[in-house]
Order: sequence, then C-alpha cells, then structure tokens
Amino acid sequence: MVPTASSESAISWAGVTPPKRLSDYRPFPFSIPRIELNVVVHQPDSVLVTADLHLEPSDSKAATPLILRGVDLELISILLDGHPLESSSYLLNDEQLEIPSPPTQPFTLTTVSRLDPQANTSLEGLYESGGMLTTQCEAEGFRRITFHPDRPDVLSRYRVRIEADRARFPVLLSNGNEISASALADDASRHEVVWEDPFPKPSYLFALVAGDLREIKDHYSTASGRDVTLRLHVEAGDEPFTAHAMASLKRSMAWDESVYGLEYDLDEFNTVAVRHFNMGAMENKSLNIFNSKLVLADAESATDGELERIESVVGHEYFHNWSGNRITCRDWFQLSLKEGLTVFRDQCFTADLHSEPLKRIEDAAMLRNTQFREDSGPTAHPVKPDSYQAIDNFYTTTIYEKGAELIRMLRTLLGPERFMRGMSLYFKRHDGEAATTEDFVNAIVDGAGADGQPLGFDVEQFRLWYHQAGTPHVTVKSHWDGEAGRLSLTLQQSTPPTPGQERKQPLVIPVLWSVLQANEGAGEERLFVLDQETQTVVLEGLSPAAQPPVVSLFRRFSAPVTWASGQALDDLFALFAGDNDAFARWDAGQQLWKRLILPRAAGTPESELESRMLDALGQLLAVDGEKDPAVLATLLAFPGPAELESLQKEADPPALERATCELRELLGSQLAPLLTSRLDGVASSLDQVWPAGQGERQLTGLIWSWLAAAGDSGARSDAAQAVEGPSMTLARAGLRALQPIDCDERDQALRSFHDRWQERPVIFDTWFSLEASTPRADALERVAALLDHPRYDPMAPNSVRAVLGGLVGNPRVFHALDGSGYQFMAEQIIAVDQRNAITASRLAKVFSRWRTYGSERQAAVKRALSTLASADLSTNTREVVTLMEA
Ligand code: TRP
Ligand code: ZN
Repeated sequence: MVPTASSESAISWAGVTPPKRLSDYRPFPFSIPRIELNVVVHQPDSVLVTADLHLEPSDSKAATPLILRGVDLELISILLDGHPLESSSYLLNDEQLEIPSPPTQPFTLTTVSRLDPQANTSLEGLYESGGMLTTQCEAEGFRRITFHPDRPDVLSRYRVRIEADRARFPVLLSNGNEISASALADDASRHEVVWEDPFPKPSYLFALVAGDLREIKDHYSTASGRDVTLRLHVEAGDEPFTAHAMASLKRSMAWDESVYGLEYDLDEFNTVAVRHFNMGAMENKSLNIFNSKLVLADAESATDGELERIESVVGHEYFHNWSGNRITCRDWFQLSLKEGLTVFRDQCFTADLHSEPLKRIEDAAMLRNTQFREDSGPTAHPVKPDSYQAIDNFYTTTIYEKGAELIRMLRTLLGPERFMRGMSLYFKRHDGEAATTEDFVNAIVDGAGADGQPLGFDVEQFRLWYHQAGTPHVTVKSHWDGEAGRLSLTLQQSTPPTPGQERKQPLVIPVLWSVLQANEGAGEERLFVLDQETQTVVLEGLSPAAQPPVVSLFRRFSAPVTWASGQALDDLFALFAGDNDAFARWDAGQQLWKRLILPRAAGTPESELESRMLDALGQLLAVDGEKDPAVLATLLAFPGPAELESLQKEADPPALERATCELRELLGSQLAPLLTSRLDGVASSLDQVWPAGQGERQLTGLIWSWLAAAGDSGARSDAAQAVEGPSMTLARAGLRALQPIDCDERDQALRSFHDRWQERPVIFDTWFSLEASTPRADALERVAALLDHPRYDPMAPNSVRAVLGGLVGNPRVFHALDGSGYQFMAEQIIAVDQRNAITASRLAKVFSRWRTYGSERQAAVKRALSTLASADLSTNTREVVTLMEA
C-alpha cells in the first residue's frame, strides 16, 4: 500500500475521521459521460470487475489530480488508454486511488478489481444474500464495486455486461434495457447478459443482481401509450405473496401520471426482494431492490398496517424515478431534496388512495414520536446538515419526515394550485441535473409566483427551516372581548438550542386555525403566517357572548411544531367531541390522554378528569356516537411512549408503561358493556379484504386490549384464538392485547404463532420481536437465548432489529435500574458493528434520550456508553457514540 500525499485524503488517524462540510463543495474536476462495466462472477467469493471510465477533464490546460474512491477492492490491473500504468504513476491506499497527473484531454481509465461478495457482511456494495448476489450502492457503496469518484454529481451512462454460471445464476439484472443475452461461445455452462441504461445517473443508483430467482410478470400501459414490462423477482416459493406489491406498483404509476403528469420512462421496471437488507428499499434506476418484508405479503401473512406500508414504500421507490433519479442530489447535504420530497409524494399517494385525514394523523403521530425526539437529543441536525462524518447516519427522520413537512408547509402557504405549478417547473427545469434544496425552493416559488400574485411569505426567511435544527414551540394566549365579539390571539415562537446551534431565528410558521362558537359550529378555516417572535391576530365580528369561543389550532397539523394554548378542559372536550378537522379533534384527545397518563405515571391519578374522560368516551362509543370505526380507534389510541417521555420531568419509561396498563384496565372495566357491544357491531365486517374492514379490525384490537387488561376472559380467549385465524391483523392485535398481561392465553398465543410461522423468515421476525418485548421476570435471559435460536439470522438486519428493538420495547427490562439491559445492548451493538456498521450505528441511537432519565439510569447508561466508546468501532457508530457522550 502506498500512502497518498493528497490534501483531499480522507485517511483517519486515531479513530478520528475529519468531518465533511457543505461549505467545502467543489465540482468534480472531470466528467465521466460513459462507463462500461464487465462483471464476471467466478464464484460467490470471487467476482472480477473491469471498469472502463471515459473521463473528460474540465480543465484542458493544467493537469488536475484524479482521485477515485475504492474500498475492499483488490486492484488487479490498471490501464490508461489501454496501456498499463506504471506503479509510480498512481497512489493507492485503503480508501482511494490517485493519479496525480492524468492527461488533460479525454482518456479512458480501465481498472480490473477482484471482489469477495461472500466476505462482505456490510450489505453495502456487492454482497451475497441467500445464494444470490445483489448490490446496495446508496450512499457510498459503489466504491466497493469499482474505483470511481462515487459522488452523486457525477452522472454517467452505464453499459453493464454480467457473466456467470447459468445454472447457479440464471437471472442476471442491471439498470436500463436488456440489450442481449446469450450462452458463452466457449462454455455453454456460462451465460452473459448485457444491460444499457440510456439515462445518465449517479453511481449510487447503480444496481446488479445475479441469482436463481422466480419471476412474476405484468404490464403497465402509460398515458402516452408506452407498454412497460413489470417484473418482480423473488426466491422460489415466494411467488404467491407478490400480488399486493405488484398491484401497488401499478397504482403508483397511475398516480404519478394523474397527479404530477409524470410517466415512466423505460420499457422495463424490475423489482427484486432481498432478505438481507439494511433499510426498507432502494430506488436504483429501473431495478428497485426491496427488503423482502416489504414485498412478500398477503392478508393472511401481513397486517393492514403492513399492507399500507408496503403500498407506500413501493410508491416511494417508484416516485424516486423522478424525484431522485431524473433529478438527483448535487451532494449528500442535499439528501432531503430527494427524500423529503419523495416522502411528501408518498404521503399524498396514501392519502389519496385511503383517508386523507387519517393519514395526516398517522404522520403527525409518527413525527412527534420519532422526529421530535431526534430534534431534542444529541443527534439533532437540520434538514440540511452542514457537516457529517458518516453520511449513512443522516438517513434520518429529520431528513425524510421533517423534510416532507417543509414541502407541505410550502403547499399550505402557496395553496395547492400554485404549489403544483412550482412542482411542474421543478421537474422541467432540473431534469437530468444534480440539484440543491435551494434550486427546489426557487423552482417552487418561481412556478407559484408566475401568476404575478405576491407569495404571501418571505422566502428567504422560509429557507431557515432547512438550516435550523430543533422543534419550534409556539405559545398561544387568547383574549376574548365578549361584548364586541372580538377574539385576539397572541402567538409567540421559540426554537430551543440544539448541539452546535445556540441561538435561533424566528421561522415562517403557517398556522391553520378556526373558531367554534356555541350553537354555531365551526367557523371558516383561516391561515395565519407567524413570522415574528411574537404576533397578534385579531378576529372581529364574532357573535357577542360571555363565553369565549373554542379555538381550533394547527389544523391538519399545519406546521411541525409543538404548541401550548392553555386551553380549558371544556374546550378540549368540545374539540374532542366534534371538531370538523380530524387532526385537531384527535389532537385534543391526545392532550386529554396526556393529562391522564402523566399523573398516573407519577402515582397521582386525576380521578375527576378520569371520570370526565369516561363520560366523553361513553358518548363516543354509544350507538349514536362516532360511527366510523377507524376514526373511533384513532381517537382512542394513547400518545406514543416517546412523546409521553418528553413531557416527564425525568423520563421514566417503566412508569409510563405501568400507567398505560392501569388506564387500559380502568377503561376496560368501566366501559365494558359499551365496548362489548361495539365489538359485536363490527364482528361481521372483520373478514372483509383490505382496505375494507381495516377500521373494524383496528377497533377490535383496541377493544380487546382494554377488555383483556380488565380481566375479561371472553376477550382474552378471542384475542388468543385470532392467532389461529385467517387475519394477520387480528392475530397481531390479539398478541398485542395479551402481551402486557401475565396469563395462560398469552403464552398459548405466542406458542401457536411460533408454530404456525416458523418456516417463513419474514413473518417469524415478528415472533422474535414479540418474544423480546414481552415483560417477564427472566426476559433478559430469554432475549439472550433468542440470539442463539436456530432460526435467528445475525446477518439479517430484520432479525437483529426484531430482537434488539423488541428489547427496547420492553421498558422494565431495557431500563432496569441495575443497567443490565443497557449493558447487554451495548455489547450487542459492538458485535453487530463488527459486521454491519449501518445497522449498528442506527441501533446505537437507542441511548439518545439518556440525559433525560433519573440519575440512577443516567449512571447506568453512562457505563454502557463507555463500554461502547472503548470498543474498536466503525466511523458510523463512533460518530453516534461521540455525539451521545458529548
Ligand atoms: N434511498 C432509499 C430510500 O428510498 C433508502 C436508502 C438509503 C437505503 N441508503 C440505503 C436503502 C441503504 C437500503 C440500504 O429511502
Ligand atoms: Zn427514499
């Protein structure tokens, strides 16, 4: 190995990797219009990759050093315009290949490298999964396949030849169109397939799959008449579980045409399901690769929630074809350009296909429990970070979901029509480019403003949302002049400090609001743009009355903020009973639940409020109450644990778990007759096929959990029976209802789930997760034993997350005061990090809330963190641990 002298060197010393900075961005000094790859699979542990990079220096006057990345590659040979390079003409180390003085005219660089996919446990680059070879290149995996700049602003046309044993690897796939397929002339046991992708793309969208896969084929005809062949590739035996994913793909294609006017642009679209995968799915051009749990599903083997999720992820990856692939990111600081936008698009897709208000509530609940938590802890970062060490650590809920919220706020501020004009301009203006989030905002406001009307907000100030981390908090004080019928609201915003960002500026916050007046119902919905630290909005002309009207705030969750309005309980109950905005209604209920659960967790139940809530619930549950079972189930669902923890002075997850169990018991016993009759009312709809019947199933599961907690033996046995039944939704609801209760039905249900699904790895991971999250005296030993279970696959992140994530979902065990849960987790993270840095560093974030715990737990986490810190960690995990210890 020859050490490099380059100033761009990324060599780490003493485990410290220098951060990459947005401000350091420079265009790559070469373009690479064409790349030819020849991938020859000799054995799964020996693949030879020959790459011809056709390079064009940007500066034809002076030689610029050429720096290519390369990791875990064995360089066999290197040629420049066909002539072997002398070893004195290049520098090679663990991370890069440098040619200090390459030609100043266009030239071709050829490298031949040997890879060992079988030894590659990182699930990045080219690796083996269940006998097939597959790739994952985002964000920086292409450098594990061949020497290349591996940055998203270098766009090339790829031609790929794959050669392999025909019997072992009958299916050979890459991006674009299949150009030819044939047996080798001199060896009929081997074959070759050539693929060509006409669209220039960044290296992170490259993909290749070689394996013995079964194909499910279908067609889609685009609006302009292009016939697209759709293929799903799965392992033998999995064919029966592909119909849902295929149908979802067709719905996605139709939706993007009808809503955005965007059509698919090639004749083929391939999707491959892979068991070993770090995340959900990947949008490689015309060759999407999916975690098999997001493909293989039917109503018997997947829950309603999973079916909806699969539909949305299939949509998400498909929508990336325009938002991500046709227009990609200039650099990884722009990640939200494609991810925030594509999440926004998939959210709208699900809303259009199902229920817009319920989808909004789902997304708001998710944001509050994941993104708000991230925003208030040591790994908080802006939607557009300005530095990072490992980009893999930035595939976060802030980049994805908060990024989507920023786009949604633009739509709220501009109105849907003007917003869509901006979107059209974006897709037209930047097609074929690697763009920035500034380009995006410019296109939106240019397109929207083309009508000559004022935008209605300050764009420069709006951009702060991309740079400022932390969740803004808004306090609202109202003043009512009952004689004049005048309501004034004074809103005040502030954003708490986050690591590296002490002082914050006021943001542009769209506030959708309305008033409900006694006997007059809901008034019209208004938009108030809060853009100062403090502002007052006055509404005149309301009917004079002694009682102030009820204010409905942040309707449709119009901004990703928290707020406090000091609303009276009467107002919350009024909104909960009947606000005409589903989100605001649900949110009023969430505030009430919080005011019940938090005092219980502190050992001081609010019995008066509890009985008022029981009355309100009684009205909702009555026959003339809330008719829609999905709405009802949504209103009855408690706030998530992360949200509740954030409201405690000292976060105490076991106390919260205890409080919710007690509350379910109370509700189940006090409301038993109404709950039972609601159960009977929906019973005949339970076997309808998704999406029909999902509200009924959701409500059934919720009622089971309340009744089972209250000791209702009928509900317990129905819940246990469901595990044997035809609906996975009900099976899982039954298991969830029984899980907190130490009873025979629970053990019997877990056993029958185990026996029924042990041959289906994707489903069996659920059993691992259930086992790990079941509260039992010997739970930690049982979790440890799961890691030795014959069906546990340490190489499959799904299994790892099922067990270790399950443990985190078991508060009394994970948060045991003696620190045993934390210590166990730290040791497991170290072990996972040895083979898979991406999965390990994501797991390490389970400790991110530690400074909010009581002192005993803080001390225990501190010990676990120092165990982690003293291990030999990957850059990824080191970055997370360092932030958490800071
Ligand atoms: N871009 C993918 C998405 O659609 C996610 C992704 C990023 C990913 N890096 C990955 C998937 C690594 C698998 C492995 O959101
Ligand atoms: Zn994505």
